[in-house]
Amino acid sequence: MQDTKILDITADVKWIGVLDADIRNFDIVMETQYGTTYNSYFINAQKKTIVDATKEKFWDVYLAKLLAVTKPEEIEYIIVHHSEPDHSGNLANLLQLAPQVIVVGSGNVVRYLGDLLNRDFAHIIVKDGDTLDLGNKTLRFIGAPNLHWPDTMYSYLEEDKLLFTCDSFSAHFCHPEMYDDKVGDFDDSFKYYFDVIMKIYSKFALKAIEKIRPLDIRAICTGHGPVLTHDWKKYVDLTEKYAREAFVEPKNERVMIAYVSAYGNTKMMAEAIAKGFEEHKTIEVDLCDIEKMSFGEIELKINQASAFIIGSPTINQNTFLPIYMMFAAMSPLRDRGKLAGCFGSYGWGGEVQKIIEGNLTNLKLILFSENMFIKFTPSGEELNRCYHYGIDFGLKMLELNCVAKP
Ligand code: FEO
Repeated sequence: MQDTKILDITADVKWIGVLDADIRNFDIVMETQYGTTYNSYFINAQKKTIVDATKEKFWDVYLAKLLAVTKPEEIEYIIVHHSEPDHSGNLANLLQLAPQVIVVGSGNVVRYLGDLLNRDFAHIIVKDGDTLDLGNKTLRFIGAPNLHWPDTMYSYLEEDKLLFTCDSFSAHFCHPEMYDDKVGDFDDSFKYYFDVIMKIYSKFALKAIEKIRPLDIRAICTGHGPVLTHDWKKYVDLTEKYAREAFVEPKNERVMIAYVSAYGNTKMMAEAIAKGFEEHKTIEVDLCDIEKMSFGEIELKINQASAFIIGSPTINQNTFLPIYMMFAAMSPLRDRGKLAGCFGSYGWGGEVQKIIEGNLTNLKLILFSENMFIKFTPSGEELNRCYHYGIDFGLKMLELNCVAKP
């Protein structure tokens, strides 16, 4: 069925987004079992304004909606809150159709669009607190970076009390009714979206929420999924709850000693290293056999740690899947600069050391100066070295003032 729906958000603001009911995997990063939508809005002010474009694939549908609400030559501005192609994919088409249109966005939006579109375009760079006069309406911009790109920003249409947030408070959920009270329960989709897209940026989500709390908001116009016309507070509160759960306030030094062990040798080493930390009363030790841990459990522990020591035997010149899950769960955005070391028992090659050190370095952690790898069963002397490794690693943590920084 042809998607022709246009929705009234207020008397002067319409949703002109597109529905993508069939998509099942979004940009590699997540499943979209409920499909998604690419939301765009038309502000019928004296200076006609479009808020975010849609994905390029849907140009025909989007164009039909645009033409239904305005003449292209009358559009003055397009607000780009975030330059990722699911929101800017049709910007080039729009500029072709309406070359007079001025692109309005953060400095990063303008820079990224330059590289995405590979062309010049008229633009206005706005920052937190700036306003844009639409004649009879005013858009106020709210800095909300890193949600989930450095370019992201919100805007608030003062007269209509609408907050435009693009990816924030969104969900990959497609229902033609679009209003949050008409689409049924989408809470699991909302949570999944937060977990995959926003969780790692929880610190920034909390800052952004603090900024929007004082606003008198009638509805939140999201970038994907339902428009929050009925109960935006519920979704802001949920986001705040999820972000607080994910965000660990910097406080104690905490080292995560994460290992897998085939015959118990690497486990013995892990326990000896952990014992060495008993010399440092202020350092919390999280000793984890990660073999059977879920990705989510590993990620949570990584989030809470200010340093890591990773242990693995060598098998077929490689390490094991749970260790690769560790690397996948680490983020240079969050974990950059945390101290990290490694250890393990091996039979002949011991290639794991280079694999772990290489990954830790690539993830921008600080590699501890020495690491502990031994052949087969650790002797008493080797376990004693592990014990001292723990002491020395702890000293380095204290020297670097390793504080958990999510
Ligand atoms: Fe929906 Fe970050 O794009």
